[in-house]
Amino acid sequence: MSDRIESLAEQMTLEEKVSILSGEDFWSVPAIPRLGIGKLRVTDGPNGARGGGSLIGGVKSASFPVGIALGATWNVDLVKEIGAALADEVKSKQAHMLLAPTVNIHRSVTNGRNFECYSEDPILSGELAVAYITGLQGEGIAATIKHFVGNESEIERTTMSSEIDERALREIYLVPFEMAVKKAETWGVMSSYNRLNGTFTSEHEWLLTDVLRKDWNYQGIVMSDWFGSHSTAETVNAGLDLEMPGPPRDRGQKLVDAVKSGAVSEAILNQRVIAMLRLMQRVGSLDDHREFKEVANDRPEHRALIRRAGAEAAVLLKNNGALPLKGHGSIAVIGPNAKVAQIMGGGSAQLNAHYRISPWQGLVEALGEERLRYAPGCTNHRFEPLLRGAFTVEYFANETLAGEPVHIGAQDEAQAFWIGNVAEGKVDPLHFSARLTGSFTPDTSGEHRVGIYAAGFAKVFIDGQLVADDWTNWTKGRTFFEEGSDEVVGTMQMEAGRTYEVVIEFATKGFATLGLAAFAAGIGLPLGNAAIAEAVRIARNADTAIVFVGRNGEWDTEGSDLPSIDLPGRQNELVAAIAQANPNTIVVLQTGGPVEMPWIGSVVALLQAWYPGQEAGNAIADVLTGTVEPSGRLPQTFPTRWADNPAHSQDREVYPGHEGKVRYEEGIFVGYRHYDKHGMTPQFPFGFGLGYASFEIGDLTVDDAEFEAEGTVMVGVTVSNTSHRDGATVVQLYVSDDAASDPRPEKELKAFRKLTLRAGETRQITLTLDARAFAYYRTKAEHWLVEDGSFTLRVGLSSADLPLSAQVSRKTTLMLPV
Ligand code: BGC
Repeated sequence: MSDRIESLAEQMTLEEKVSILSGEDFWSVPAIPRLGIGKLRVTDGPNGARGGGSLIGGVKSASFPVGIALGATWNVDLVKEIGAALADEVKSKQAHMLLAPTVNIHRSVTNGRNFECYSEDPILSGELAVAYITGLQGEGIAATIKHFVGNESEIERTTMSSEIDERALREIYLVPFEMAVKKAETWGVMSSYNRLNGTFTSEHEWLLTDVLRKDWNYQGIVMSDWFGSHSTAETVNAGLDLEMPGPPRDRGQKLVDAVKSGAVSEAILNQRVIAMLRLMQRVGSLDDHREFKEVANDRPEHRALIRRAGAEAAVLLKNNGALPLKGHGSIAVIGPNAKVAQIMGGGSAQLNAHYRISPWQGLVEALGEERLRYAPGCTNHRFEPLLRGAFTVEYFANETLAGEPVHIGAQDEAQAFWIGNVAEGKVDPLHFSARLTGSFTPDTSGEHRVGIYAAGFAKVFIDGQLVADDWTNWTKGRTFFEEGSDEVVGTMQMEAGRTYEVVIEFATKGFATLGLAAFAAGIGLPLGNAAIAEAVRIARNADTAIVFVGRNGEWDTEGSDLPSIDLPGRQNELVAAIAQANPNTIVVLQTGGPVEMPWIGSVVALLQAWYPGQEAGNAIADVLTGTVEPSGRLPQTFPTRWADNPAHSQDREVYPGHEGKVRYEEGIFVGYRHYDKHGMTPQFPFGFGLGYASFEIGDLTVDDAEFEAEGTVMVGVTVSNTSHRDGATVVQLYVSDDAASDPRPEKELKAFRKLTLRAGETRQITLTLDARAFAYYRTKAEHWLVEDGSFTLRVGLSSADLPLSAQVSRKTTLMLPV
C-alpha cells in the first residue's frame, strides 16, 4: 500500500470512509473535499463510452463493434488497440472507469445479451478480455469486467439463482474473469444481478473473497451491478467494495451503524476503503478536481479503427463464388436492414453514436448509386418505429398530471429514460408525471399501428382520441430491464400529408428493483404482400440481389431474451422469395447470434456482419467488394435448429428458469463441447469462417521436453497463403484428454493465433500450452489435475477442420493450485 493511501485512510472519519463505498449518483463516487479527494466517475461500456446522464440522448460518442463482433475477430492485437481507443473515449466523457468488458458465456442462443459477450468458449473470451483490459488500463482507465458470475440470461435476472456446479464454474464461467485478474490485473470487477447457487453474487463470500481474492490474489475493487446490492453487512463482509448506483440504499448511515454495532469490523471496512483509494490513485481521480465537462470527439483515427474492426469481424459463412462482388452489373439492395444502420445492441451498452452508416450508404460509396435499386421487402422491428419530431414536455410534481406543470422541457423523439436528475431536479424522479405534445404527419394513407411500452403508466392520444392505453391495464412485460410492460398497440386510419396532434401522458409507478421511469412510443404502417412483391420485382431485374436481414437492438438487448432464433417478421419468406427470383442472391445477416436458416441452400453467399459500430455499412461494403479479406471466425456455434442448443430443454428449470432457479444441467458441455458430445453437426461450427484467400497448414512439430515436469508443450506449425490474394486466417489448437477418468469434452480450444499473410507467403508459428491447458477441475479435491496418460493435440482452421494432430503423454499426474 502506498504511503499516501495509508495516510488518507488514517485521516478519514468513519462517515467519510463509508461515503466512498457507495455511489453519489448514477455514475459517480463522491469526492471528499476536506482531504482533497476528487470524484470517481464511471461510464458504460463496453462498445464505447456513453458518459453520464441517461441511456438515450447524451453527448455523442464513438460506437465500436459489439462484443460478439470482437469475438469474431479472434484478434487480440486489434482488441487491445480498441481498448486503448476506448480509453480516449472514456476521457472525453471525463470518466475514470469503463463498465466493461462483458464476458458472460454464450450458454443459450437466446440470451438477449449475447451480443455484448465475446463467445461460448472461455479461452477465446478470456484472451480477448485480457487484450481489451490491457489496452484500456495501459492508458490509465480502469476496466470493470462483468458480470461476475452466472448472468447467462436476462429472464428474471435480478432474482434468478444460477445453479452451476463448481467444475463448470471453474472450467467455463469463471475462466475469463480469472484470466483478466491473473493476466491483465483488472482494476475492477462487477458482481452480477443474479444469485449463484442461492446467494446473490454481491454478497457471495466464496465468490468475492475465497475465489477472487484468495485463490486469484485480486487487488482491485468489486462493485455491484446497478441496484444489485441487497444488504449492508453481508455485502461488505463478503467482499463487495462499492454499492452502485447512488445515493446509497444499503450503506450510508446503515453501514455507519453496522460498523458501530460490530456487524462489520473496522478491519473489513478498512480493506474496502483501501481498495477504493487504490483504484482512485490508479486512475488519477484522487487528484482530479476539474469541472465536469463531456465532449464528443469524433476522431478520424477512431473512424478508421472502427471500420477496420467491423470488417474484420464479418464472418463469411457461405460463398459459391458470388463474393467478392465482381463486374459492373446491377444490384438489388433489399431488406429491412439495408437502409437502417444496425450498429449496436440494446440496453446499458447503447450510446448516442457520432453517426451511423447503413449498408445502403456503404454500397453507394463503394459502387455508386447508378447500379443499385432498393426495396425494404418487410420489416423486422419488435416495437413500432420510434416516433421522432419536436415534443414539448410538461412535468408535474405528482403522479396524476394535476395542477400546473413545474417544469417545461423539450425533446426530439417520443421516448424517455428518466434516471437521476429529472426536470432539472424539480420532480422526484420516482414520483412524477409528464405530458408530451407533438405531431405526426404520415407519408402514406392507411391503418397505422400506434405502440407504446413503459416502465410507468402511459397513454397515447391522437387528435384527442385515446389510441394506445398502457395505463388502465398495465401488465409487466419484457422491456426496460424487466421494469416495463410489453408494447400495447392500437390502430388508427390516417391520411397521407395530414398533421395529427400526438399527446403522450406518463406517470411513474412503483418499481421492482431498478429505480427508473421510461417509455417509448412509435407509429408504423405494416408492410404487406405488396412490399415483398416489389422486392421480388427489383431482384428479378437485377444481376445480383443482396438481402440485408437480421434483428436489431430491440431484440438483441439487455433485459429480455429472444423468444426464438427465427428471423423476426416475414424475413425468412422474403429471403426465400428473393432467392427464387434471382439465382445470384447474397444474404447479409446482422444479429447478435445464430438464426435458423431454412433458405440456406438457395442462396449463393452468406455474410454474418453482427453489429459492427458506427461504420457498419462501410465495413460491410469493404468485405462484399473484397477491399478487405473476410477473416472473422464464429465465436459461437450456429446450430441448425434452436432445439440443438445445450440450454434448450423441456425442463423449464434448465432454461429459461423456473421458480427462481435456472439449472446449468449441461455442466461443462456448453457450445461446441455439447455438439461434440451428442455427435450433432451444426449449421456452422465454432471457429468457422471462409475467406477469399486460401490457406494450408502443415509441418506440425511438438516440443514436449517439459511436459512431464512442468506440464508445458510447444506446438509449431507452418501456415501458407496458397492464393493470389493477401489474406488472414486463424490457427486454432484444441486439446483432448485421451483417457480421462472423469468425463471431459471431446476437445477444447486452448490456443489460437490470427495471422495475416501476403499472397504466397508461408510462416512458421509456435503456440504454447501451459499445464492448465491439459488440466480439469477436480471438485472433491479442490484443485486442477493433469492426469497421466496421453493427450491429443489437434490443429486446424476451425473446430470442424483439424487436419493436423499429434499426441503427447506423461507418466505422472500433476496437481495445480486454484
Ligand atoms: C447492467 C450493467 C451496466 C449497469 C449500468 C446494468 O443494468 O447490467 O452491465 O453497467 O446497468 O448501466
